[in-house]
Amino acid sequence: MTTPPAKPKRRSQEWFGQLSKDGFLHRSWMKNHGLPEDSFDGRPIIGICNTFSELTPCNAHFRGLAEKIKAGVYQAGGIPLDFPVTSLGETNLRPTAMLLRNLAAMDVEESIRANPIDGVVLMTGCDKTTPSLVMGALSCDLPSIVISGGPMLNGRYMGRTVGSGTDVWRLSEEVRAGKISQAEFMAAEEGMSRSAGHCMTMGTASTMASMVEALGLALPTNAAIPAVDARRERLAWLTGRRIVDMVREDLKPSSIVTRAAFENAVIVNGAVGGSTNAVLHLLAMAKRAEVDFSLADWDRIGCDIPCLVDLMPSGQFLMEDFYYAGGLPGVMSRLKDKLHLDAVTVTGQTLGENLADAVVYDDAVITPYDQPFKPHGGISVLTGNLAPNGAVLKPSAASPHLLKHSGKAVAFESIEDMKARIDDPDLPVTANSILVLKNCGPRGYPGMAEVGNMPLPKKLLEQGVRDMVRISDARMSGTAYGTVILHCAPEAAAGGPLALVQTGDTISLDVEARRLTLEVEEGELARRRAAWQAPEPAMKGGYQSLYVDRVTQADEGCDFDFLHGRRGAAVPRESH
Ligand code: FES
Repeated sequence: MTTPPAKPKRRSQEWFGQLSKDGFLHRSWMKNHGLPEDSFDGRPIIGICNTFSELTPCNAHFRGLAEKIKAGVYQAGGIPLDFPVTSLGETNLRPTAMLLRNLAAMDVEESIRANPIDGVVLMTGCDKTTPSLVMGALSCDLPSIVISGGPMLNGRYMGRTVGSGTDVWRLSEEVRAGKISQAEFMAAEEGMSRSAGHCMTMGTASTMASMVEALGLALPTNAAIPAVDARRERLAWLTGRRIVDMVREDLKPSSIVTRAAFENAVIVNGAVGGSTNAVLHLLAMAKRAEVDFSLADWDRIGCDIPCLVDLMPSGQFLMEDFYYAGGLPGVMSRLKDKLHLDAVTVTGQTLGENLADAVVYDDAVITPYDQPFKPHGGISVLTGNLAPNGAVLKPSAASPHLLKHSGKAVAFESIEDMKARIDDPDLPVTANSILVLKNCGPRGYPGMAEVGNMPLPKKLLEQGVRDMVRISDARMSGTAYGTVILHCAPEAAAGGPLALVQTGDTISLDVEARRLTLEVEEGELARRRAAWQAPEPAMKGGYQSLYVDRVTQADEGCDFDFLHGRRGAAVPRESH
């Protein structure tokens, strides 16, 4: 008689498989959920890492979605246990949700490692909830799968489609230019956000949902199914089933999130015209996953990728249209010659196998590769004496006539300085000027605010100007647009050359040559450097001090230096 193969010892059995006092403690308290004894017999225990919060409106429907995940886990023979982690609501948090991304990632990492779970479902939605959960999970490397909450339905207002964020920027400029009334502006609020879900433009949330699908960390179609479409609940159900099998197969992120996966993500980001915030988040993820992937790779791999998706903020359609047109599998089916199709994904199959049945239903929304919506969808990485370690620009959201431009700087020392003077009739600014904003980077704000797309001066708006070159060490909302150079590194508050710019200096931008130059003699720059003093931190003490002390610069992803790397899920000590 052959001996049956030994059951693999689950991680959770280190807690629940003991007959000692400790095992009693672990099991007994969990039984107050009503769990029967065989719940602890070695079947996979699945953590559901839930970012539900009513203060994160984009994720406020997650309680219902978690129930579908749980159903899938039970159906596959696992035990689901839902747990909360720090949830970052982009529209409510001050000074910026990005300040708390690393805090949330620490919470996620420690929560996964400390608890008796064998695998984890990461419930993500609003901008920072995706990178924070993925970063934390990558450092633990337990079997992990992402499900996004899905985008809101298309916004509708006064007979037209309106997109999250993108139309806020447009409408707010129209109020300032006197084109619409304040009352009309405010009436757009409820039409824009009319269902559960996250921003329905190709902003940062939709971009990151696309990135996790491209990385192979989510089931196909994750990125685009609207939050309120029953197929989102079906996907949650399937995600719950799949994580149980991933535990049985011991399929971990370290087998999925490889160099090839990052290259796929950069290509897909170009094709969907994704957010510049993805640059920071993927660099941070790569550091966690110990994958060799740099800022220069964004340009090298993504620069020739055309934008195939006609979505706001670069285009006209929204995520709901994108889903009906074929969603991310549809886009990736048009990139097969570019992608690493042998990359492993959470399905247990390769990306190429996942794409076997992918179809595009609407060429107006997802254009053919040889007739792209825009010829350049990727991120351009600029260097020069104004950003020695790099800066980024999204050509698909910029004005073509400004991609090669020289102009006189109008410099602002802080966000408050900019707000106080931008509409001053005496501001020495013309349509050819270049607006420069300092001290809004990781250390300077702190947290790298989304203010890089600073408003245009009112007197220029009234003249009909709708775009200008803007340069900063800040970020920009993924829903925003314009010829906006972001993430200058090193930042001004760290003594980067941006700190030395003065009003009247000439700055030259040449996107094709990838150059960003401050046309000031080195001797004069040296004099300014000697006189420069670091600004006083805007916030002192507590987490903010840790953040300012240990955050890396934009070209490295703005994680804390001590969080880089994969620390695994082992915990050497019992719970006491
Ligand atoms: Fe949450 Fe845009 S505010 S995704």
